[in-house]
Amino acid sequence: MCGIFGCILKEGTAAPLIHASLKSLEYRGYDSVGIATINKNKIILKKDQGKIDEVHRIINLDDLPGKIGVGHTRWATHGAPLKINAHPHLDCTGQIAVVHNGIIENFSELKLELENLGHRFVSKTDTEVIPHLIEETLKKDSSLSLADAVLETVKALEGSYAIAVISTIEPDKIICARNESPLVLGVSKDGVYCASDIPAFLPVTNKAVLINDGELIVLSSAGYEIKKIRDSSPVSRKPEIIDWTPEMAVKKGYPHFMIKEIHEQPATLRNTLRMQEHYLDLIATFLDRANEVFLVACGTSYHACLAASYMFSKLAFLPTYPVYASEFVEQHGKSVNIDSTILAVSQSGETADTLAAVTCAQQRAATILGLTNVIGSTLTRVSRVYIGQQSGPEIGVAATKTFTSQLSVLAQLALRLSKKRGKISQDEMDALEERLENLPDIVDTIVQKQEKKAKQLAKKYKNSKVFFFLGRGISTATAYEGRLKLMEISYVPSIAFPAGESKHGPISLIEPGFPVVFICPKDGSHRTLISNIMEMKARGASIIAVVEEGDEEIKELSDDYIEVPKGIPEVLSPIPFSVPLQLLAYYMALEKGHNPDTPRNLAKSVTVK
Ligand code: F6R
Repeated sequence: MCGIFGCILKEGTAAPLIHASLKSLEYRGYDSVGIATINKNKIILKKDQGKIDEVHRIINLDDLPGKIGVGHTRWATHGAPLKINAHPHLDCTGQIAVVHNGIIENFSELKLELENLGHRFVSKTDTEVIPHLIEETLKKDSSLSLADAVLETVKALEGSYAIAVISTIEPDKIICARNESPLVLGVSKDGVYCASDIPAFLPVTNKAVLINDGELIVLSSAGYEIKKIRDSSPVSRKPEIIDWTPEMAVKKGYPHFMIKEIHEQPATLRNTLRMQEHYLDLIATFLDRANEVFLVACGTSYHACLAASYMFSKLAFLPTYPVYASEFVEQHGKSVNIDSTILAVSQSGETADTLAAVTCAQQRAATILGLTNVIGSTLTRVSRVYIGQQSGPEIGVAATKTFTSQLSVLAQLALRLSKKRGKISQDEMDALEERLENLPDIVDTIVQKQEKKAKQLAKKYKNSKVFFFLGRGISTATAYEGRLKLMEISYVPSIAFPAGESKHGPISLIEPGFPVVFICPKDGSHRTLISNIMEMKARGASIIAVVEEGDEEIKELSDDYIEVPKGIPEVLSPIPFSVPLQLLAYYMALEKGHNPDTPRNLAKSVTVK
């Protein structure tokens, strides 16, 4: 997730507005920043790594001349957060500048083809193929307009993109295109604007034109033209008046970042399906060779590791040991060795306990692998191989979208390892891969259909003093995560156990009306889970079940239930099943009058650069 902005002004210079607009998009990424303008038929470009204010202090982002320009604030996915990888990116001639938000899945193939044609690349980004492709398209047919060359170029791209292109070839235009990354236009009497999000131009206009997937836009001082990428047919769309305050606009109209991020999960999960294959393969190879594998993390990331230990075991027959990072040194510090592999999972890549565990393992010559959301974080620097989960910045303190993304990446790793080891049949593999592809849509359905239900449940149970969360097998991880979410933002004491353990002590807490949340996928443990539900019910507990649609047996036994679509494979179940629990926690916090974005005593680790 990055922020892009472009503008064509009637008067004045574009750079100060681009700078201010990027600042209001910094919540979309803040690894590096860059601006390119056109003046006297030349592209003038400034960019550097770091946050916008830091970069501005050093290179002054306001003094580029020209009425037309584009800018970018980056969240690194391909290539470290370095100046060389900062946008805008140029073609070989320096006549075409491109900013991009998204992931070009086929960039390696395109890059190779372009290199064979003599193009020189300077960055490690996927984006850089775009200016070179436009250059190549125009080289082949110089009669094409810039818009036509961009149109041909985007047809060759696979993946997600919102791009803005300027060129000295037609110095009075910005060409934009969109596929699965947000793009919106702004119009005012002073100029036209394109941006990833409305906050970027809200201070200068509240007239916005929303752009759909598969559309290409030509911006000029005369206004905007939209056409379909597929067949170049024109699209007519009038601006709408946006009545959001700037604060509402940053949250896309949602009251809190947490609920915005819960709703973003279909998109963030789609991004996890665009991982760089090479890195997934590499990590799978290291896991395959390891003598022992520790999955090390804290908090929510630990729950992802716990779920992953079931995935690796069931799909790849690889035993792995999920360990709380804060316990790693005491528990394994003396035994970890050159034959051990540590897969450290940390959204921020900066959590002190996780890094301490990694340091200890590294000193004993273990192999360190990393999964993180922040490329350039300490974890990426200390890992032998790392993979970025590509979720974009998470502003709400409670992890939501980053959790489901971690699970998706870990499931993909487990599948790869399974393939390598030949552990499951091709049919099973195909079915799992298909379900993984469908998960963004499944999660979308849950968010759309179950939010109201979660709200009602929060209202009904808002005075409960304690909650239980129970699940069996991989759903134990889901139960732990549901408990953590509820506890950390609504401050309701909560307890989670593997359901089978509940009768070895915790059951003594149960008295009439005690709410017990059961995670009930239709997997191999369904029957035994029903026995656990009966035990709790017999003691008067109020049963709240997260069930698959059509699971009438459990619905009958429950006081309340939230449904998820049916047919979800066991190993993938924590992804959809945790979403209703996120919603429940969010609405419980609201019922209790707490701000879910800023739970007391908690803060998110931020990247130290
Ligand atoms: C809970 C939460 C925390 C983090 C934990 C680890 O919602 O966000 O429990 O999961 O602090 O953080 P990372 O993943 O950045 O290492």
